[in-house]
Amino acid sequence: MPRLPKLPAPPLPAPFVEPPPRPGEANGKGGVLEGAQEAGITVVDWVDERTSLSGGVRWMLFRKVPKGTNWFYTLGSATLFAFLSQAVTGVFLAMYYRPDAAGGAYESIRHVTNEVFLGQFVRGMHKWGSSVMVVLVFLHMGRTFIWGAYKYPRELNWVIGVVLLILTLVMSFTGYLLPFDQRAYWATIVGVNINGTGPLIGPYLSDFLRGGGEFGATTLSRFYAIHMLLIPGLLIALIGAHLYLVAKLGTTAPPWREPKQEPELLEAEV
Ligand code: HEM
Repeated sequence: MPRLPKLPAPPLPAPFVEPPPRPGEANGKGGVLEGAQEAGITVVDWVDERTSLSGGVRWMLFRKVPKGTNWFYTLGSATLFAFLSQAVTGVFLAMYYRPDAAGGAYESIRHVTNEVFLGQFVRGMHKWGSSVMVVLVFLHMGRTFIWGAYKYPRELNWVIGVVLLILTLVMSFTGYLLPFDQRAYWATIVGVNINGTGPLIGPYLSDFLRGGGEFGATTLSRFYAIHMLLIPGLLIALIGAHLYLVAKLGTTAPPWREPKQEPELLEAEV
């Protein structure tokens, strides 16, 4: 019986074809080391091809900054860093904390401070970090005020900033009660009473904070929920909006370097 002619083999699909050797490669095959070096880039490319995230990252990070930008412009980023540090240390503290007014809260804080590995360090970072964040947020606000960054078109970012300032202070106030020692207890009673003296909404506000007419177990749970759920959520959302507006509008040039007085700045803008 006559044998049928052998058909040519079908072409290999592209992924199986060996790539041509690159300049400097001996036999056309990349070494294990080279493959490992490129693995990260490949993963980033793979994600980017499906999400186009790099466009957004580039839009956010690669911005032109006005002439005269100096160290004072880093105060906002410093505040952001303080917030992130508070978030990270706060998560670790929450792993041990018990919002139990009948001695459990105090005991859990004592346990973190005296017995947990690095507990005192992490608690110290969170405690001092809260003061650092308050100081930084005021310095940053002062910088934007002196630079006139609250003017058109950045009024909305100033308003968001004012809310961020209030939220930062509420974080400090609610966090202060959590150790539930004598100082925390009495200082918070004073704070809640001060809130109660506010016009119109004052009494409602203090009732809300206490969780009723009496200061006690409900107050502690309420402060804990506000401290670790409500305010951080609002802060994250508003910081996102704040940074979006900074990226969109750019930062303000120092008012003492107006193009009117320095014509070369005007030329640079054309
Ligand atoms: C959690 C608190 C805050 C964070 C994390 C934060 C973060 C930032 C960052 C990173 C910038 C850009 C860099 C810079 O100019 O420093 C910025 C700009 C700005 N922030 Fe804040 N900020 C906070 C609170 C505030 C407050 C309390 C105000 C004012 C009431 C404010 C008003 C502004 C304004 C107006 C700008 C634009 C600055 C310009 O155009 O030069 N921010 N913020």
